[in-house]
Amino acid sequence: MHLETLLIHGAEGDAQTGAVSTPIYQASTFRQHTVGQEGGYQYSRGNNPTRHALEEQVALLEGGSQGFAFGSGMAALTAVFNLFSAGDHIVASQNLYGGTSRVLDKIFSRFGVSVSYVEFSNLIDIEAAITSNTKALVIETPSNPTLMVTDIKAVTNLAQKRGLLTVADNTFMSPYLQRPFDFGVDIVVHSATKFISGHSDVLAGVVVVKDQRLAEELHFIQNSTGGVLGPFDSWLLLRGLKTLGIRMDRQSQNAHELAVWLRARPEVKKVYYLGFEDHPGFALHRSQASNTGNVVSFDVGDGEFARRILSKVKLCVLGDSLGGVESLVNLPDVMSHGSVPKERKLQMGVTPSLIRLSVGIEHSADIILDLEQAMK
Ligand SMILES: Cc1ncc(COP(=O)(O)O)c(C=O)c1O
Repeated sequence: MHLETLLIHGAEGDAQTGAVSTPIYQASTFRQHTVGQEGGYQYSRGNNPTRHALEEQVALLEGGSQGFAFGSGMAALTAVFNLFSAGDHIVASQNLYGGTSRVLDKIFSRFGVSVSYVEFSNLIDIEAAITSNTKALVIETPSNPTLMVTDIKAVTNLAQKRGLLTVADNTFMSPYLQRPFDFGVDIVVHSATKFISGHSDVLAGVVVVKDQRLAEELHFIQNSTGGVLGPFDSWLLLRGLKTLGIRMDRQSQNAHELAVWLRARPEVKKVYYLGFEDHPGFALHRSQASNTGNVVSFDVGDGEFARRILSKVKLCVLGDSLGGVESLVNLPDVMSHGSVPKERKLQMGVTPSLIRLSVGIEHSADIILDLEQAMK
């Protein structure tokens, strides 16, 4: 089946009653028929039918074998980093989401897991950062918020040659636009708070793997550490996923119109958008994803002016997220990337005057009018 169809029919509701929508099993514990019962449901930290339906659905959409749902994207990433032990080393892209580098630098460093950040467009730099203790390469493509593109296949080829795992944060694309397993990635992570939910009403994260041993380890970590997604939030994601395809199509189309309009504005000094042929990652992105996604970042050259624009928007929401049906704007320098060291931010293009726009599904003319009045 095509992804559009899988989004609707992947999770087929309830076989017992015929309910088209998966029921919300709002239960912490399940009756066992014998002491020490094997299989079935026992306790919702270990497994819950609504969460299980969601986990199967995301695994199917990503082309993996097993999914795991957590209470946030950060909880999902934390579970992945729990695969590593004291002495292990990770080579990560310097363009990761700020919270991902924060948990590595400030939490996992306390347990002896070290990380080196490099620019992933240069394979020689990645190779140079690999040590005998390196266990994984961590990428995010396209990156947040300046849309740098990483060559997924080149990275996984290198990882396989050196016996390393590759972890890809696929939040910005969702499985509808990009499927990292097709390029040899081992672990796919999402902040499901974003496109998988799509409605700015759930905080959630998912991890998907293909390999059986990794699946067993992640299930052990999920059950042991317990940051699981609740049944109602799992149901909200199952519901949100049904419209992922039409949302992403509409948002990508709107993003294109916004990017073209922004580029023509005299107030705008630079536009980061994957649909422009002169974007350095244009061809590479096209070869590994089916569309641009909805993020357009733009630099207005003056931090004070950027703040004034953000305080004047009316239709766009000034807020800390992306991927919802409503257009959202933020100032990465002090919001999404506030915790990233200044030098790394500047290397990424995150200046005090960079605005990130997550384009929603409104009529594009209304979004344009809103930004125009705010700039004035
Ligand atoms: C690319 C990316 N990964 C991970 C996260 C963390 O997800 P959450 O906010 O759901 O914990 C975010 C949040 O913005 C993100 O943009």
